[in-house]
Order: sequence, then structure tokens, then C-alpha cells
Amino acid sequence: MKKILKIVSSVKGAASKSTQLADAIIEQLIVRYPGSSVKVKDLTKEQYAHFDAAHLAAFRGVGDIEGVAAQEAGKASDDAIAELLEADIIVLGVPLYNFHIPSTLKAWLDHVVRGGKTFSYAKGYPEGLVSGKKAYIALASGAIYSEGPAKGMDFAPPYLQTMLNFIGITDTQLIRAEGCDMPGVQDTALEKALATLEV
Ligand SMILES: Cc1cc2nc3c(=O)[nH]c(=O)nc-3n(C[C@H](O)[C@H](O)[C@H](O)COP(=O)(O)O)c2cc1C
Repeated sequence: MKKILKIVSSVKGAASKSTQLADAIIEQLIVRYPGSSVKVKDLTKEQYAHFDAAHLAAFRGVGDIEGVAAQEAGKASDDAIAELLEADIIVLGVPLYNFHIPSTLKAWLDHVVRGGKTFSYAKGYPEGLVSGKKAYIALASGAIYSEGPAKGMDFAPPYLQTMLNFIGITDTQLIRAEGCDMPGVQDTALEKALATLEV
């Protein structure tokens, strides 16, 4: 029995390929771990602020740390980290936007990747403080990046895996539906992605 946190970052609702992929992954996880719970966090509805001076004050003690904005930024981050720590498995639904992840997902990452809370340099080298979790990255892209002429623009997967690894989530699996907007490819994109899934 696992606690699954499903992150939604596509604006397409039910038509979203990344959300459909995340759902299909979760379906298989529930078969593997009967009785698991799923918490849905839709970042298109629950939006996090861009990192600003209030976050710098809250996270690093630089500037007006007693100000209301800093208190709010600190609380938003504390709550997001608590939610992450509560989960055993994180399933990230990620649409590719402009060769990268949606800015809503980046803003969430900026709240959960936090010195002294989820990573530390106390030992003189970076150490992830989030342990014992597994993450699935359900990535959907209009074109194909894992091979062919656009391979050099495949920034999102290494970025996401680096961020997760940096905070200690080293057990990650990338499941990617590619060519979601390409005629002749799009119809089988999800099926091909799911064939690579290991739960
Ligand atoms: C604003 C925007 C930017 C996009 N940028 C890219 C891109 O850089 N590369 C790409 O292959 N597809 C791009 N797409 C297409 C989406 O990645 C594709 O439609 C994918 O299915 C989106 O995932 P979703 O169905 O979960 O929303 C973009 C789509 C939108 C709406």
C-alpha cells in the first residue's frame, strides 16, 4: 500500500497526454500495490509564485525575513515539502512546453528544492535529504527528442532527473510519449510509452 502523489502540469485537462500517461502509470501502480491512495496536485490550478525576494528572505535569510511576503513564501514552501515527504511515489505529468517543463512545475520545484530542507551542503558536498521515494516522469511532447535531429534539444528529461536526484529521489523512471502532435505517430505514442513502464 503506497501513498501516490500525482502532479498535473498540463493545461489540457482530460485531453492531456501527460495526464493520461500519469493515470495509466498510477493504474498499474495500484494493481501492484492494492489499497494505495492517490493525491492529485494540479499545478495549473494551485499555482506557486515565481521565486522572488520574499523567497530569498524565507529560504536564505537575506532581506526582510520578518515581512508578511517572506512568511507566506516560507509557508507555501513548507507545505509543498510536507506534501512531497508524505508520498511514497510521485508521478509527475509533464507536457513539453517550449523545449522545457511548464513554468508552473518549475515554480513548484523552486518551492521544494530548498537548502536545509530537501538538500544540504553541510558536509561540504551536495546531499539530498529526501529518501526512500520513487518518481515516475510521464512526459508528453509534440515531436520526438529521444532520437533523430531534435536529440540535442532534449533538455527536459535530464533537467528533471537532475533536480529529483539532487534532493535525494534517485529512483526515477522516465516514461515518454513522443510525437503526440505528429500524424502517423500520435495514435500509438501512449501505447509505446507504456510498453517501457516497469512497476
Ligand atoms: C505552449 C506550448 C508549447 C509547446 N512546445 C513544444 C515543444 O517545444 N516541443 C514539442 O515537441 N512540443 C511542444 N508542444 C506540444 C506539446 O508538448 C504536446 O501537445 C504534448 O502532448 C503536450 O502534453 P499534454 O497533452 O499533456 O498537454 C507545445 C505545446 C504548447 C501548448
